[in-house]
Amino acid sequence: MKNKQLAVIYHSAHGHTGHIAAHILAGAQSVPGITAHLLKAEDLTSSPERLLEYDGFVFGSPTYLGGVSGTFKTFMDATGRLWKSHALKGKLASAFTVSSLPAGDKQSTLLSMFVFAMQHGMVWVGNAILPEQHSGVPYEEAANRLGSWSGMMAQAGHSAPADSFVPGDIKTARMFGTNVAEALLRMAADVEAEVTP
Ligand SMILES: Cc1cc2nc3c(=O)[nH]c(=O)nc-3n(C[C@H](O)[C@H](O)[C@H](O)COP(=O)(O)O)c2cc1C
Repeated sequence: MKNKQLAVIYHSAHGHTGHIAAHILAGAQSVPGITAHLLKAEDLTSSPERLLEYDGFVFGSPTYLGGVSGTFKTFMDATGRLWKSHALKGKLASAFTVSSLPAGDKQSTLLSMFVFAMQHGMVWVGNAILPEQHSGVPYEEAANRLGSWSGMMAQAGHSAPADSFVPGDIKTARMFGTNVAEALLRMAADVEAEVTP
């Protein structure tokens, strides 16, 4: 089977979302059979057809006022002409967001990316990680410490350096990238089994 192509598409004004995107990418790249790419949302706005080259996506945006950033929304809107032909139907989609507050209305950001993916007929993959603090791992070191399953969440102080995440969020990003990549391989294997019985 040819390597499956996964794109991590993100916007980051001050580097935090970009930092998490890089760790998700590394997690995905650790899976044999996956080729993962890091793409900036703003670079795709004038050429959304580039999405057709990929089998799956991880979408990432900072949370701005409880939603995606304007730059990420511009990217989403630029895919309108692909929606008309349902050209992205059946591709894998997943998402993450970064914000400065523990809650910060991050869920709305994930929901906005979920609805975007559903309108395109994509297949959603969440963040299937149990919060490790429940099994005794210290909170700041725990995978999925923020308890988000619809997508991945991370938190960093607004004016803190872009790499100032607690170890738990970095670990979550890596695991999330690996899980999404493995889900993409399972999806591709199922499709191939259907076409070649
Ligand atoms: C216009 C604006 C709106 C924001 N709204 C929220 C918010 O609703 N909730 C929150 O927790 N943080 C909010 N933040 C903080 C950012 O989500 C946070 O700093 C994030 O890490 C920025 O990502 P970046 O460094 O990749 O640009 C906001 C920041 C800006 C600039």
